[in-house]
Amino acid sequence: MADVIAPAARPANSHFSSGPCSKRPGWSLDALSDAPLGRSHRAKVGKEKLKLAIDLTREILNVPADYRIGIVPASDTGAVEMAMWSLLGERGVDMLSWESFGAGWVTDVVKQLKLADVRKFNADYGLLPDLAAVDFDRDVVFTWNGTTSGVRVPNADFIPADRKGLTICDATSAAFAQDLDFSKLDVTTFSWQKVLGGEGGHGVIILSPRAVERLTTYVPAWPLPKIFRMTSGGKLIEGIFVGETINTPSMLCVEDYIDALKWAKSIGGLEALIARADANAKVIFDFIADNDWIANLAVDDATRSNTSVCVKIVDPAVTALDVDAQAAFAKGIASTLEKQGVAFDIGAYRDAPAGLRIWAGATIETSDMEALMPWLSFAYESQKASLAKAAA
Ligand SMILES: Cc1ncc(COP(=O)(O)O)c(C=O)c1O
Repeated sequence: MADVIAPAARPANSHFSSGPCSKRPGWSLDALSDAPLGRSHRAKVGKEKLKLAIDLTREILNVPADYRIGIVPASDTGAVEMAMWSLLGERGVDMLSWESFGAGWVTDVVKQLKLADVRKFNADYGLLPDLAAVDFDRDVVFTWNGTTSGVRVPNADFIPADRKGLTICDATSAAFAQDLDFSKLDVTTFSWQKVLGGEGGHGVIILSPRAVERLTTYVPAWPLPKIFRMTSGGKLIEGIFVGETINTPSMLCVEDYIDALKWAKSIGGLEALIARADANAKVIFDFIADNDWIANLAVDDATRSNTSVCVKIVDPAVTALDVDAQAAFAKGIASTLEKQGVAFDIGAYRDAPAGLRIWAGATIETSDMEALMPWLSFAYESQKASLAKAAA
């Protein structure tokens, strides 16, 4: 250890977690001072805040005017599950997964909803399944950006415009950092705690007119809890989509989301957010290109995430170790950086292959990402020194 010299510069902000993600630059609790705390969310002031959050979401994400946007309970998970429970079962469904969150939606459909006509398209960490084999006359559920493998779909070209089924897309680590083609997405979901660095607990569901048509013409065979119900008497509950939430939201979290959206708007909207994530991810991609001990988990460059960048250690001295020792090596890097206070929460997700996951979304400053890279080398060299010591 004594030989490995720590870099002089440190990231000003060491928050590189993949969710909740770093707050926006310059954020402080003062940003929430206008929250209508202790007031009803059904009062004029509460409803106006919720409506503003919906309107700004539409503006920044370029959501078409005839798509509904609702704020729903239980974060992204709540939004995805209310979509699947409300819409699936009318026809067969193709379930796509390439990391643990997508796999979780498959479990929901097979083991909880127990749908009879399910086709599964699963790929290992680092890869995408064969998108050309998917049948869009069936319903299709997929995750745009697999947060735990750092693999994303490059675009929506694989989805036909004239599909008969619905597409249900978990876009939680893509929204506000990647271009979502809403004409190809019937249900899009995300949570506030990801790219905009908002808070957990609240989800957003975006419905195309075709999704609304399904909702109002199809009644699932299973009971729906109140927090999943978007229709009443065969009609869409329109209030949900103008801020009359199904149950009580946190107005503090709503204020925080509005603050994040206003920040997004102030820096130039979606284009600027995407550019920031791209620039941050490029710092890591360049580092990988310069260092042969580390590689992107995403096999195809076109599918590399610009938000949840997942890396593996490919040093032959490490890959020769058994699986547990490889995991310990990667964990050692993450914990060294945490102890040094330069990067928090960058260990790979618990179900993912051993490695690191560094969040590069829009709230991260590129200068902080640049400052982190020499520390990756430092932590790696430190782990190697420990390995050598253990072997001596
Ligand atoms: C792709 C994906 N889906 C779903 C979730 C769950 O999100 P939440 O905890 O906001 O419900 C996450 C969280 O990291 C995720 O990355």
